[in-house]
Amino acid sequence: MRIVCIGGGPAGLYFGLLMKKENPVHHVTVVERNRPYDTFGWGVVFSDATMENMRAWDAETADAIETAFNHWDDIEVLIKGRRMRTTGHGFVGIGRKKLLNILQARCEELGVELVFEREVDSDLEFPDADLVIASDGINSKIRSRYQVEFKPDMVMRPNRFVWLGTNKLYDAFTFDFRRTEHGWFQAHIYKFDQSTSTFIVETTEDIFKAHGLDQADEARSIAFCEELFSEVLDGGKLMSNARHLRGSAWLNFGRLTCGKWSHFNGQSHVVLMGDAAHTAHFAIGSGTKLALEDAIELTKQFRAFGGTTDKIPEVLAAYEEVRAVDVARIQNAARNAMEWFEVVGSRYADTLEPEQFMYSLLTRSQRISHENLRLRDKKWLEDYERWFAARAGINLDPDGPPVPPMFTPYRVRGLTLANRIVMSPMAMYSAKDGVPNDFHLVHFGSRALGGAGLLFGEMTCVSPDARITPGCLGLWNDEQAAAWKRIVDFVHTTTSAKFGLQIGHAGRKGSTRLAWEGIDQPLDEGNWPLISASALPYMSNSQVPRAMTLADMDRVKADFVAATKRAIEVGFDILEVHCAHGYLLSCFLSPLTNRRTDEYGGSHENNARYPLEVFRAIRAVWPQDKPISVRLSCHDWTEGGNTPADAAIYAKMFKDAGADLVDCSSGQVSKEEKPVYGRLFQTPFADKLRNEVGIATVAVGAISEADHANSIIAAGRADLCAIARPHLADTAWTLHEAAKIGLKSVAWPKQYLSAKLQYETNLARAAAGPRPN
Ligand SMILES: Cc1cc2nc3c(=O)[nH]c(=O)nc-3n(C[C@H](O)[C@H](O)[C@H](O)COP(=O)(O)OP(=O)(O)OC[C@H]3O[C@@H](n4cnc5c(N)ncnc54)[C@H](O)[C@@H]3O)c2cc1C
Ligand SMILES: Cc1cc2nc3c(=O)[nH]c(=O)nc-3n(C[C@H](O)[C@H](O)[C@H](O)COP(=O)(O)O)c2cc1C
Repeated sequence: MRIVCIGGGPAGLYFGLLMKKENPVHHVTVVERNRPYDTFGWGVVFSDATMENMRAWDAETADAIETAFNHWDDIEVLIKGRRMRTTGHGFVGIGRKKLLNILQARCEELGVELVFEREVDSDLEFPDADLVIASDGINSKIRSRYQVEFKPDMVMRPNRFVWLGTNKLYDAFTFDFRRTEHGWFQAHIYKFDQSTSTFIVETTEDIFKAHGLDQADEARSIAFCEELFSEVLDGGKLMSNARHLRGSAWLNFGRLTCGKWSHFNGQSHVVLMGDAAHTAHFAIGSGTKLALEDAIELTKQFRAFGGTTDKIPEVLAAYEEVRAVDVARIQNAARNAMEWFEVVGSRYADTLEPEQFMYSLLTRSQRISHENLRLRDKKWLEDYERWFAARAGINLDPDGPPVPPMFTPYRVRGLTLANRIVMSPMAMYSAKDGVPNDFHLVHFGSRALGGAGLLFGEMTCVSPDARITPGCLGLWNDEQAAAWKRIVDFVHTTTSAKFGLQIGHAGRKGSTRLAWEGIDQPLDEGNWPLISASALPYMSNSQVPRAMTLADMDRVKADFVAATKRAIEVGFDILEVHCAHGYLLSCFLSPLTNRRTDEYGGSHENNARYPLEVFRAIRAVWPQDKPISVRLSCHDWTEGGNTPADAAIYAKMFKDAGADLVDCSSGQVSKEEKPVYGRLFQTPFADKLRNEVGIATVAVGAISEADHANSIIAAGRADLCAIARPHLADTAWTLHEAAKIGLKSVAWPKQYLSAKLQYETNLARAAAGPRPN
């Protein structure tokens, strides 16, 4: 095969040498516009895992890199006068020049033709090539020629950064956060050879401009950074790599994805590789790793399919299929990390204490979890667990075992929960005339025995016409109150769990069938009239609701208050007002469902007016020592709908009206929604509201193991974690998760105690793997 790599960065050089090594008969050329052994940049980092992967493919390159690289394990964080350190993070730092020199030398050794100082304008300049690798970096000319085919999507991110160097040496990957009169700056610092460290300075556009850095030349920018970071520089000077654009100015990071990675140009197959295909923010330092792993994967596919020209289409399809998934995974993690640095000043730096700030920083990509931190640095993590437990009011023996964050108590008003796990409200559609029955007693009773600190009853309706389905629970009469009391009394007398009531009104989503008979579908018969903020149906075949009149509003508000009074008599510990999922109050909050032109629609203030009137009326009768939570759809996932920024505005209004917690859900407001699901997918909303609005939050959605809950609580992304579907699958979810992480101190119900040790032992045996024969 004749292979031409356009661009001699890590991607082009490494692929070139791997293919030549696979089969010396291949004719491989790498064309680079710069001079040999001449390149821009300071250091790059990648993880130990990348090194292992490289070793498997070309031990010579890996050896040369290992001799030249700087390995370090520690991360140090400086903020607000504190200097904190953790170990076990395994990074490799190497000068970009050094890395490229190693790759160039290895190319020469294997017989790859290196052409320097040639600017390539088009892939068509190589008519004999069977395969053209577009490894020409983020501003790839080749990719630009085939915009229609490759479908590139470049998003310029808001932060400004400048890539500098210094001769001051650091023995840890160092993050330094400094506040000026306009806001926060951060430096990402790492040593990459015996005399130099990379020093990237980053801030937001507003702060960048407030300091006049948009008008500053390079010398002034450097002087500014030297002064700001003088403590960590300790007399060291900053340097710019002025010859290269990247080092010379403050830039915005461009996040690139491509819809397709290969194209046949009529004479050659052209394929994107490295930064030409995708970028990953330096916040997790993986751009070079991705480039090298692209090269490895394409080589691997040639090995699998055969390195002949007729196999190229299949090889390229397989390469793209495999890499698209891996790259998306890294890009997601990089995006989380990048977004963390974009909001760190406004969200975390001022509000979190240094210890928790550091935990949040370490878990910023959401790929490193609580248990992962334990593997890296057990002592640091256990000290942190003790610190967190002390903040939660537990006095631990300094030499005794720590308590994981999800098992610390939580106090809000006069309510103390034994742990941070909540059974999320889940409609069971199993009531008749809204009255709880034996199903509900067993359903809630068994979960209360299962270890959660708090159970929420399903959405409980404030009047017959407030129900979603004829099977929904209610609290509009004494019979219902008495039946509820039997369940709540059982929970209170038999377990340490607390019991909350979620009250709501279905609005335009009412009068529908039981979930398993056709969710959201109107009843075959016996429909009741619906009300909503505006006369808009949920689906095209849904009943059209009536836009609420002021009299309707008064009646429904009175129903909420009456239900609240009954909830006091029943003995519930906490109330949750359901303002999410497209039900009545939620429809007031979303511009998609509220088209009112009176004072109850048209602005945030107007949209929230009725939900707040209801909330205040409830708060006025609900005991002062008992908390109230509000469930919000923090994202409508629909064009023109609410976003987390709107949710933050509403959360602030509810906070000011006396709400204690916001339960951060999303969606179900519009049938047009396009939610982006995934592990912990709604947790960023809880994080934003908690740390920007300053209200306690409940995270919910795809939180399925203790490790998730511990990571969320420990990082201060939420105060409580609500678990829904896993509680349907496992009544004793909390007790079982405690056992899975090896925590023995959590009490089981005395009646079940004899099962505890056996359960823990079996888990330990399963974790140890199969026994030898
Ligand atoms: C501030 C910052 C810090 C970073 N830190 C890290 C880090 O710590 N770890 C990490 O892994 N990554 C890091 N990166 C990213 C990393 O630099 C890239 O992801 C990586 O270099 C991609 O390799 P590549 O071969 O795809 O592209 P590049 O390294 O960009 O190489 C492309 C090559 O093509 C050449 N070229 C371009 N156009 C033409 C043309 N028309 N004709 C001929 N030649 C051409 C260029 O001269 C260049 O040599 C960082 C990036 C930035 C901006
Ligand atoms: C069967 C079922 C019924 C639900 N009913 C309600 C409800 O009554 N009120 C509510 O706010 N959310 C309800 N939800 C949403 C859950 O409370 C939770 O937000 C959602 O399932 C995501 O959490 P999970 O990933 O842990 O399941 C329901 C979810 C399920 C699966």
